[in-house]
Amino acid sequence: MGAFERLRSVEHDDRDRQFDHIVGNSPALESVLAEVQRVAPTDSTVLVLGETGTGKELIAHAIHNLSPRCGRPFVKLNCAAIPFDLLESELFGHEKGAFTGAVSQKVGRFEMADTGTLFLDEIGDLPLALQPKLLRVLQEQEFERLGSGRTHHINLRLVAATHRDLAQMVARNEFRSDLYYRLNVFPVLVPPLRERREDIRQLVLHFVEVFARRMGKHIEQISQTTMNAFTAYDWPGNVRELQNLVERAVIRSDDGLFPNPLPTAQANAKPSVASPGTLRDHEAALILETIRAAGGMIGGPGGAAARLGLKRTTLVSKMKRLGIYRPRYQRLTHEVNEGNLAV
Ligand SMILES: Nc1ncnc2c1ncn2[C@@H]1O[C@H](COP(=O)(O)OP(=O)(O)OP(=O)(O)O)[C@@H](O)[C@H]1O
Ligand SMILES: [Mg+2]
Repeated sequence: MGAFERLRSVEHDDRDRQFDHIVGNSPALESVLAEVQRVAPTDSTVLVLGETGTGKELIAHAIHNLSPRCGRPFVKLNCAAIPFDLLESELFGHEKGAFTGAVSQKVGRFEMADTGTLFLDEIGDLPLALQPKLLRVLQEQEFERLGSGRTHHINLRLVAATHRDLAQMVARNEFRSDLYYRLNVFPVLVPPLRERREDIRQLVLHFVEVFARRMGKHIEQISQTTMNAFTAYDWPGNVRELQNLVERAVIRSDDGLFPNPLPTAQANAKPSVASPGTLRDHEAALILETIRAAGGMIGGPGGAAARLGLKRTTLVSKMKRLGIYRPRYQRLTHEVNEGNLAV
């Protein structure tokens, strides 16, 4: 591979369209997706486990989309995001006057998800007091709205997710064991990014494309040094952290080149001083910088070739060898302005 990644040469994943939004083809990710394909068509409860930012929500969506319930509602509730005293009525709904403040009737998430899939995110944060109530719904497929004696029968598939260690929570009496066993029918473990580093390059290219398009920028290359830093970094925040760093770098890029957003010390990359890639990178960076200083001109008296003391044809062939395209300043400025206006 050359010193630069050429964004135009990104090979698109030829995996089934079914997993369109899930980028990566490491063996670890492929085996997760194989599990997803196996369990999706059933009605079984799935428990998606994995560190923060690994893609648990994407997996939950994929399970729904590959199930016969696709086209029916997919309803999400984040158990960690709703205050305790509201969570019960969010789940079950309530009748008018069920409690102080219940000024009108409310349909709960169970009812909304009827015939479809209910995704209970951060299930490890479900308060102990609510756990037996959830267990009952799962076992009986029925519930009552708060303040109502009428039993509703529902038909839903449950997908739950958490970044917590539920088994350990059970051992510490922080999570009910009966609910844990009821949820843990089919666990799907999404591995952290540092255990599937093969996915990093594809993820970077994917997010560069997404953010560049969104911001109306034109990014032509990513240096091999930057890509190596991405691949070597441990990503405690997993794909979400990578996505955010790529977004930041795209915001900062202004010459068609993707800047390295990882501080070198943080990147824990192997020292690459004097490695062949580094020399090439320096050469490429110098050329890009000079082209920029020359206002995008390659030939002519004030052009980049003259500034570098090279013949125009020599510079052009060097650029080809290094995978450098001529940055498009006019267009970039225009597109950045447009991007700003859109914000
Ligand atoms: N394999 C992937 N391909 C493309 N995008 C991904 C992939 N994995 C994760 N993402 C993206 O990374 C972000 C985090 O993913 P997601 O919200 O599914 O993670 P999570 O495991 O639910 O995290 P948390 O525990 O913090 O809620 C999302 O924007 C998601 O689209
Ligand atoms: Mg999540």
